[in-house]
Amino acid sequence: MQFIDLKHQYQTIQPQIDQAIQKVINHGQYIQGPEVFELEVKLATYSGTKYCVSCSSGTDALLMSLMAKKIGLGDAVFTTPFTFIATAEVIQLLGATPVFVDIIEDTFNIDPSKLKTAIDDCQSKGELIPKAIIPVDIFGLPAEYEMIEKIGNKFDLCIIEDAAQSFGGKIKNKKACSFGDIGTTSFFPAKPLGGYGDGGAIFTNDSEIAEKLISIRNHGQGKSKYNNIRIGLNGRIDTIQAAILLEKMKIFPKELGQRNAIAKKYSQNLSEYFTCQHVPEEYESAWAQFSILALNSKERSRCMKNLKDSGIPTAIYYPKPLHLQKAFSNLDYEVGDFPVSESISQRIFSLPMHPYLNDKDINLICDILIRCKELIQ
Ligand SMILES: Cc1ncc(COP(=O)(O)O)c(C=O)c1O
Repeated sequence: MQFIDLKHQYQTIQPQIDQAIQKVINHGQYIQGPEVFELEVKLATYSGTKYCVSCSSGTDALLMSLMAKKIGLGDAVFTTPFTFIATAEVIQLLGATPVFVDIIEDTFNIDPSKLKTAIDDCQSKGELIPKAIIPVDIFGLPAEYEMIEKIGNKFDLCIIEDAAQSFGGKIKNKKACSFGDIGTTSFFPAKPLGGYGDGGAIFTNDSEIAEKLISIRNHGQGKSKYNNIRIGLNGRIDTIQAAILLEKMKIFPKELGQRNAIAKKYSQNLSEYFTCQHVPEEYESAWAQFSILALNSKERSRCMKNLKDSGIPTAIYYPKPLHLQKAFSNLDYEVGDFPVSESISQRIFSLPMHPYLNDKDINLICDILIRCKELIQ
């Protein structure tokens, strides 16, 4: 059994993908070819934003967004410690300071009430200037944007939605990538909409930001190629990746429906025995991961081992919250600073999740987990 079965997906659309790749090879516009701009239009339409600027990865999407907002030394950017390193890495890379805020126990997303306290504390200390918030839509579930946007407005902070995992998620009819001032996503192969290599995109309704992002992704280009008006980078997506993503977008709504159906089956079978990620009313997850909580790390190890013995892969996202990573030791956080993130990191594990998982596999996974739980009790 595969944790994420990309081969199966390829087999279902092989002729279309092969043809799309061949078309790019034939026309030869490997950099910024027509498929790149076609993809941007399709992505903006899908997410309901005015502009989409494609780029080289979800990491660069975050980095370029912070660069467009001129965030750097002396600035505080509030984010969650329960995420992939990229979210906070880019803040520190630009010389700004990540200020971590603990998460909500049942959604695993940044806790808006703690966010407000953290901003107040930062302001009263006066060492850093609060500039931005990066909420993460963890495992595909959008963060609590109604509250986060109110806080952002109150303190005049830019909100950058890290929607790397949540393309396809939504709150009511508003899609992930469209919250806050800027939304960023990733097309890393394992993501809900994944390419065959690295890629990402940035979404906004602000024409000035979109213009800056287009310049930043091309070495700070001005009106012509050798007219550089700011420091930028090579942040472009390859035309071949755009061509692949255009084909994958055609099956994306169906795949998203299949992910949701699988998540529903998992929840129905397992929620009596394990805590599953809570999806609030009127929220929809893109189900990048289906994650559950064991009672403690010992129980988690036992469950993961029993699954592994039956050939079922699992993963832990994330075994160590970012405030305890060596990369952020300069920030002087300690064990106990973010108890919810720390406790969840000890207990969480993710089950196989992809649109081609069948009922037999789901039942087998759930039976093993339930048996494991009954044996422990
Ligand atoms: C929450 C989050 N942010 C950012 C990224 C970075 O995306 P990429 O791998 O495309 O650079 C990831 C990728 O795993 C992610 O999960």
